[in-house]
Amino acid sequence: MVGYKFMGKAHSNAYQNAPFFFDLPVKPVKQAICGRNAEGVKEAADKMGWKSYETDWRTLINREDIDLIDIVTPNNNHAEIAIAAAEAGKHVYCEKPLALTIEESAQMLEAVQKNNVIHMVNFNYRFAPAIQFAKKLISEGKIGRIYHMRALYLQDWIMDPDFPLVWRLEKSISGSGAHGDLAAHSIDLARFLVGEIDEVSGMMKTFIKKRPAVADSSGLSGKASATEFRDVEVDDASIFIASFQNGAAGTFEATRFAGGNRNSNQFEINGEKGSIKWNAESMNELEVYFADDDPSLQGFKKINVTEEVHPYGGVYWPSAHIIGYEHTFHNLIAELMKGIEQGVSLSPTFYDGHAAQAILTAVEKSARSRRWEKVDTYL
Ligand SMILES: NC(=O)c1ccc[n+]([C@@H]2O[C@H](COP(=O)([O-])OP(=O)(O)OC[C@H]3O[C@@H](n4cnc5c(N)ncnc54)[C@H](O)[C@@H]3O)[C@@H](O)[C@H]2O)c1
Repeated sequence: MVGYKFMGKAHSNAYQNAPFFFDLPVKPVKQAICGRNAEGVKEAADKMGWKSYETDWRTLINREDIDLIDIVTPNNNHAEIAIAAAEAGKHVYCEKPLALTIEESAQMLEAVQKNNVIHMVNFNYRFAPAIQFAKKLISEGKIGRIYHMRALYLQDWIMDPDFPLVWRLEKSISGSGAHGDLAAHSIDLARFLVGEIDEVSGMMKTFIKKRPAVADSSGLSGKASATEFRDVEVDDASIFIASFQNGAAGTFEATRFAGGNRNSNQFEINGEKGSIKWNAESMNELEVYFADDDPSLQGFKKINVTEEVHPYGGVYWPSAHIIGYEHTFHNLIAELMKGIEQGVSLSPTFYDGHAAQAILTAVEKSARSRRWEKVDTYL
């Protein structure tokens, strides 16, 4: 694994626990972790149970005792590491957004396909049981033809104008702001649940145009420099409307300026026979409405998606003994292990990462042109 902070912790925890809950055909071994700072990476290796560490990802990739490279670094080095890993014949599991640009994500997809390695991108929200259940309901036609998807991904951690320019606000490192960080997840859920998006029309806003440079940072936190201020080049909010190939209409809002919303990844889908609502902050619940319910009982009902009959029912705890954020990673890593054993890349693959990148790119293009733009994967 390359990187060892926020996602490093989430992925390490999942490698540790997925084999405990699942009967995996292939079991992950936490062989080596990589970071640039020897002291920091050694401490991370000890704490998170990795057998060894490296300070250069190139050395890691060339080690013969490694089969899978997991990339949990900031977005600007996903492409370089993933391509080198694929060329060295290693399977690759990469964080989202897959890349900084669509050109990079296309090269990454080409590299994993050409070198015939297993590839997955960490769109972990797909693996909340409620999302898998929503997928089942939609696939079975329970809500019929889909008319709308209304997706919001709302956070508020940078509303303080004195919050520093951490890597997520540096265009050269992150590619974009709320757009690639948050909208990427909504886009993946939209592709997973509703279908492909054809065309988009978008707007991106940067509310705070200058921020203090960063003195020290990790994950979503950072300390500001008292003296140096720099321009903010990424969006604080990205909003777009979308037209799906199947005729559905989508609205998407991703922002880090929605006060009071810490990590509100939510959506509503409306179909001819019913509706579905979900919010990651109450991730065990799926709200459903079915138009063919008895008229006296019509309305949204909240299903606690933890029964034996639900996706992942029986893997964790008895009914209503709820699970959390980390289990989305366990579930995804269980798929990854299954894929490695079967020799197939299970979704979400680098293609899904690239397709999401194509939609992100089209929205950025539209925000600049102030017109509708076609989504093009250029493949
Ligand atoms: N799926 C999700 O829900 C989710 C949530 C958070 C972050 N992410 C994604 O995960 C990735 C990492 O985000 P994070 O929040 O963990 O960031 P972070 O700042 O907490 O950690 C980044 C890590 O990468 C290391 N790093 C940076 N450059 C490196 C290099 N050249 N070689 C080796 N190590 C290097 C840093 O030292 C640090 O350990 C990003 O792509 C982000 O978009 C996904």
